[in-house]
Amino acid sequence: MLDTRGTAVPRLLHWGPDLGAVEPESLTALADAGAAIAPSSPDSPVLPSIFASPAEGFSGFPALVVRRAGAPFGRLPLRIRQTAVTADDTSVSVQLECADDHGALLALAWRAVLSAEGVLTIGMDARSLAPEGVELHRLAAAVPVPARAAELLDFTGLWAGERRPQRGAVRDGLHLREQRRGRPGHDAPYLTVVGTPGFGFRSGEVWALHHAFSGNSTTGVEALPTGHRRLLAAELLEPGEIVLGPGEVYTAPDAILAWSDRGLDGLSERFHPFVRALSPATHRPVVLNTWEAVYFDHELERLLPLVDAAADLGIERFVLDDGWFHGRTDDRRALGDWTVDPERWPAGLHPLVDAVVARGMEFGLWVEPEMVSPDSRLAREHPDWMLADVSDQAGAHHPPTWRFQHTLDLTIPAARAHVLEALCALLDEYPIAFLKWDHNRDQHAGSAAAHTRAVYALIDELRARHPQVAIESCASGGARVDLGIARRVHRFWTSDTNDALDRQRIQRYSALLMPPELLGGHVGAPRAHITGRRHDLSFRLATALFGSAGIEWDVTAASDDDRDVLRDWVATVKRFRELLTTGTTVRTDEPTDDRYVHALVSPGADEALIALVTLATAAVAVPAPLRLPGLDPNRRYRIEPVALGAAPHAVQDAPPAWLAAGGITVSGALLAELGLPVPLLGPEQALVLHAVAVG
Ligand code: GLA
Repeated sequence: MLDTRGTAVPRLLHWGPDLGAVEPESLTALADAGAAIAPSSPDSPVLPSIFASPAEGFSGFPALVVRRAGAPFGRLPLRIRQTAVTADDTSVSVQLECADDHGALLALAWRAVLSAEGVLTIGMDARSLAPEGVELHRLAAAVPVPARAAELLDFTGLWAGERRPQRGAVRDGLHLREQRRGRPGHDAPYLTVVGTPGFGFRSGEVWALHHAFSGNSTTGVEALPTGHRRLLAAELLEPGEIVLGPGEVYTAPDAILAWSDRGLDGLSERFHPFVRALSPATHRPVVLNTWEAVYFDHELERLLPLVDAAADLGIERFVLDDGWFHGRTDDRRALGDWTVDPERWPAGLHPLVDAVVARGMEFGLWVEPEMVSPDSRLAREHPDWMLADVSDQAGAHHPPTWRFQHTLDLTIPAARAHVLEALCALLDEYPIAFLKWDHNRDQHAGSAAAHTRAVYALIDELRARHPQVAIESCASGGARVDLGIARRVHRFWTSDTNDALDRQRIQRYSALLMPPELLGGHVGAPRAHITGRRHDLSFRLATALFGSAGIEWDVTAASDDDRDVLRDWVATVKRFRELLTTGTTVRTDEPTDDRYVHALVSPGADEALIALVTLATAAVAVPAPLRLPGLDPNRRYRIEPVALGAAPHAVQDAPPAWLAAGGITVSGALLAELGLPVPLLGPEQALVLHAVAVG
């Protein structure tokens, strides 16, 4: 609800619960009701607008920071007035003009669109009206939330440990997260949620913000002692990074917001269909990725048995990871040289690709187009294409290499064209259905604003020329999982760790925003390569099932028994694919933190796949019943275990009778309220159940 009367900068009066039919008189009365004048404050009520500033008597975080190029210091953002507004049932668009003492400075546009699912997208752009040009330092979405939004949840993380939740009280001041990595990062705030104290997966009122951008950003919450509380999101712009010549336009990344009075699951219920519409791939093949299977060991004799084994398991897409291109024998060299290595691949990739295709699988290929190794032909031919801080007579000053690589300066048209042509040559020569698009370092030189837009343009150009190719956004795992790139890609590599226990947490929280079928989850080797931890195959299978499922393990070395189990599991993924790719995510708030319960419920609540996951040794001998909300309370469901190899390890004399009998039929209401008795599972085990409506 936006107050756009007159020419003042509009005020966002309300977003959140549907207020139903509101009589215009009440609305006007409330909008005009003002506010108490606080002691030691401006002498007129402070009613912050969408660009609240000192000009309104507001002392908080300014959403717009801009200056006429070369102008002396002055208070910003000076005078802003609304010039036009258009609105319909689900969107509003406001035009404004910002001026300083010398005249018009900027034409601003502010748009809010409410999707059918209840996701609010705020977009903005700014066009320079000044003959001298303008320096734009910030254009932020600033969205009020009520005082009852007193508890904060956002995320941090690290490589192989993304989406670590952090929670606490909303305190006075700015809780601002600055991402200066040229990518959201493993520690991305991801989703900033504020809510009523104690909010959980199924309860509490919550307001959430995601910044739909893959570059540098500033996101967070501001709470002022006046009681004003706002969610904030802006691209993080360095001084001088955005200078707009007359008529030039800056478009801010979208801020994506949602509200729910049913906790975090209520947010996901809005976000998931929204993202599914944004990234409309419906094809979700089961993948085998070669990375942890062979690493850089790219010999045809090594890979062909893996192709055979993959086909035998029912794999649908075979992805050749890093190591195939010219001179790439390890991670220290060759990025940028996107031609097939003639020594290891004398006949090109053809013998491999032909084998993959002949066995009925799609072929996918790993690339890292935004990067260049100093030890590469590309760097030797074009040393100036490696992003450097400054270049002077002494040469270019590069930031330290990171994984032995630099960022390629894609803002140089010839560099971008070079990469585009190299990728298109591969796509023209081979039937490549899928690119795993990696990004393995932070950007420490050049403009992240320019680079991020150049990357987007590169992907857009590639997709315009090859619309059939599916793309996975990978950045050393999940360091670039955002809704800016989601419009351009079809899958995310959620994390480099295939450790199933760590994956349970990473996938659970990544799926607050992203639908699970977009989040790659692979069954790794019995001993996780990164953590060194061992997990039963059934636990690894149960974990990868609830995602974009795949295998990342040298299955040629697996036992025949394990291969039988894997083959059954691939068939299980296919059997439940419809449910796994369209379902509604349900997560419960468990009484103890030694276990998770999560499920996918089909759109009509006809069936569900339910997982009980133990994270640690149970604290009680008879575990609490498994309660699952989200099914139809008035229907009865037949519930049976889904076999994923050996049954999960239980520490008990006997399982509950219903499980020993192979299943039970109960109503959705009983399942939600009383729940099912469950076995006392050992730590790091999972019991997967299938519920089907029978009446
Ligand atoms: C990154 C990715 C991995 C793998 C390697 C290859 O770390 O996240 O999945 O592709 O690069 O070098």
